Amino acid sequence: MTATSTTVTVRQATRDDTGPLTSILAAAFFDGPVADWLVPDHADRHTVYRRYFELVLNHGLDHGYVDTTADLSAVSIWYPRAEPPLGESPGYQAALEAATESYAPKFTLLDAVFEAFHPIEPHHYLAYVAVKPEQQSRGVGAALLNHSHRQLDALGMPAYLEASNLRNRELYVRLGYRAGPPLILPTSGPTIWRMWRGKPDAARPSGFPASGPLSRRRSL
Ligand SMILES: CC(C)(COP(=O)(O)OP(=O)(O)OC[C@H]1O[C@@H](n2cnc3c(N)ncnc32)[C@H](O)[C@@H]1OP(=O)(O)O)[C@@H](O)C(=O)NCCC(=O)NCCS
Repeated sequence: MTATSTTVTVRQATRDDTGPLTSILAAAFFDGPVADWLVPDHADRHTVYRRYFELVLNHGLDHGYVDTTADLSAVSIWYPRAEPPLGESPGYQAALEAATESYAPKFTLLDAVFEAFHPIEPHHYLAYVAVKPEQQSRGVGAALLNHSHRQLDALGMPAYLEASNLRNRELYVRLGYRAGPPLILPTSGPTIWRMWRGKPDAARPSGFPASGPLSRRRSL
């Protein structure tokens, strides 16, 4: 599907877009507290991030849905929450360890913490959104997300994401999300804000949706 919002045209990404979209993800996420925590060494971060984001992008194309813009300046990776989370997809853990090598424990820990605090209520999960660094702060990210939000609102479907810094947390609040209790990643890691965007007609609830890993829910 293709849709135009002001000057931004959004379309579904395909396998042919993997190269440029991997580059956007690796560049957009290169700086910041989560990157410093995951891969402190900058030279290693270039290599590991390139491999890691190729893996998550391909996972999104296989199991979720990936949007981009006509000029390939942005990418978002969403999962309807009926899909298996990243860590539970067959072969994902082995591929993650191959991609991230000695940094695999931190990436695995990140997945596990995010999964443990994931809302139980059905929703679509925004795993990643990134805009090419030189095109940030021009409305592209908001337009890309508004495109998805319009579709989710039409389905009466909430959305959930983890915000990795206060600046993008404010963007999500402007787009209709509210922040839940923050997570602080173990081993002196950064703070992460869990963000929930409810159904459009939902009365404003006082609390944040209950969370818990799918695997725990299955085995109890
Ligand atoms: C967050 C991001 C997707 C927003 O897209 P964008 O096109 O730059 O954003 P828009 O122009 O639509 O909206 C601007 C708002 O986005 C946020 N933003 C812009 N650049 C940002 C950056 N480098 N890091 C974090 N937030 C940013 C701010 O809230 C900004 O508003 P402000 O200028 O008043 O502070 C994009 O900046 C990005 O790729 N950042 C790096 C990767 C990232 O943090 N992804 C989200 C992880 S939760």
